[in-house]
Amino acid sequence: MTVHFIGAGPGAADLITVRGQSLIASSPVCLYAGSLVPPELLSHCPPGVRLVDTANLTLDEIVDEMLDAHTQGLDVARLHSGDPSVFSAMAEQMRRLDAAGIPYDVTPGVPAFAAAAATLTRELTVPGVGQTVILTRTSARATPMPPGEDLATLGRSRATMVLHLAVQRIEQLVEELTPHYGADCPVAVVTRASRADEVVLRGTLADIADQVRAAGIVRTAVVVVGQVLTAAQFPDSHLYSPDRCRSLTNQHPGRE
Ligand SMILES: C[S@@+](CC[C@H](N)C(=O)[O-])C[C@H]1O[C@@H](n2cnc3c(N)ncnc32)[C@H](O)[C@@H]1O
Repeated sequence: MTVHFIGAGPGAADLITVRGQSLIASSPVCLYAGSLVPPELLSHCPPGVRLVDTANLTLDEIVDEMLDAHTQGLDVARLHSGDPSVFSAMAEQMRRLDAAGIPYDVTPGVPAFAAAAATLTRELTVPGVGQTVILTRTSARATPMPPGEDLATLGRSRATMVLHLAVQRIEQLVEELTPHYGADCPVAVVTRASRADEVVLRGTLADIADQVRAAGIVRTAVVVVGQVLTAAQFPDSHLYSPDRCRSLTNQHPGRE
């Protein structure tokens, strides 16, 4: 018996990996966060599946479901929105499973930041403009940021930033980032990326808060900040340069 943590993707039902889909199909128990996991994915569950929406369960109640399945020798598909490696609360479940001696594995998914970049048709790393992406959030009363990870500190790098769970604090975000990025820095807000009802706002740090308020966006959005969003004058990357020694790369495919 294994608990399979599976990235369910950003919302479009076909943005799940082949492996994720087949694990859903072979697991007699499926735990999913009803608020963010697309309901169409549940159609892959086998007949007679035990389906549990974890949106209103406590951590103990979720782990109890896994313990019950373990006792019965039943595999569990544990669906998390996007990719479970970021902002998923997977770590605390794994810690409990470790303590209980229950095996688990992880299948990645398409994270919201990648779905948003696809919607925007932008690369988040552009030569000479931005080669670093910070995935972060803003501080909330229930979840303060660790020391040194406040926006003012992270913003000093001027790296491309993707903020999760933050759109409802857009004014605070703008206030903390503007001194570092400048009021004219491009910003995009993508809500429900990849879903039929996705909404995209494009602007700058100077006007994005007004746009967000006017559109009434309060959740399920990422805020992308950085010059890569509009950069046009940048050098070609070294990857396809004629100066690059291809024969060596072909002989040693792992070499960069
Ligand atoms: C609990 S976190 C989950 C993140 C997820 N593990 C991932 O890989 O993207 C939820 C936050 O992710 C972002 N998010 C999730 N799905 C999204 C989507 N389809 N479009 C835009 N943002 C999304 C929002 O910031 C939302 O508040």
